Amino acid sequence: MPERPGSGGPAAGDGPVEGARHVVLVGLMGVGKTTVGRRLAKELARPFADVDEQVELRAGRVIPEIFRHDGEEAFRRTEAEVLAELVARPLPLVLAAGGGVVARPENRRTLAGRTTVVWLRASVEFLAGRVDPTHRPLLAQADDPAEALGRLLAEREPLYAEVADHVVDVEPFHAADDKPKRALARHIAALAVPTTPAAPTPARAPASAGGATGTPGAGSAAVVDAGVIG
Ligand code: S3P
Repeated sequence: MPERPGSGGPAAGDGPVEGARHVVLVGLMGVGKTTVGRRLAKELARPFADVDEQVELRAGRVIPEIFRHDGEEAFRRTEAEVLAELVARPLPLVLAAGGGVVARPENRRTLAGRTTVVWLRASVEFLAGRVDPTHRPLLAQADDPAEALGRLLAEREPLYAEVADHVVDVEPFHAADDKPKRALARHIAALAVPTTPAAPTPARAPASAGGATGTPGAGSAAVVDAGVIG
């Protein structure tokens, strides 16, 4: 994984100020980026934004309709615009990205060096049991959604690894904790923003879970108003 440059005073409009980076959750469909992201934003007292939701607002259609009426390429263009605009915001945010955000090199460049990226990782078996294909056009079109997920995982694994500062395996949290999303959010807060005051590593998370790889996110946490962008 690439070494990230330190917190180097990006100008307003070019990413977060005060050395605190946005925390961006990436990973395949169904892994829990949005729900964990919302909880993480609360832990960090930051605003939360979901890239898919922002794309839908901009397009005035839900994602399956965007794919049907405008095509995947149009969806990807809007997704790239929305991501770049959110990353350019001066206050540090928590962002949940769509599973395919890493496919475009421009998005990987947008994330590089200006955000702390956390890859939420899980097996195809786990994801296939959780994801609703009717709201996921890439799966809805597939004869075998589990097979399609496996193909997407194989294609994207190296790309998630390329952008990730931290990798968190979510399955042990689901196996060990009756509130896995909360446990994950606390774990990620401590990993991604080590100076966050109230973000201990959850006591009940298994020691092997969420093994962080890569370099820790740089900079200190700037506590800002919690809220949801949208
Ligand atoms: C996609 C994932 C979806 C959404 C779109 C395409 C993908 O987001 O952006 O359906 O290419 O993997 P989630 O990962 O939030 O489901």
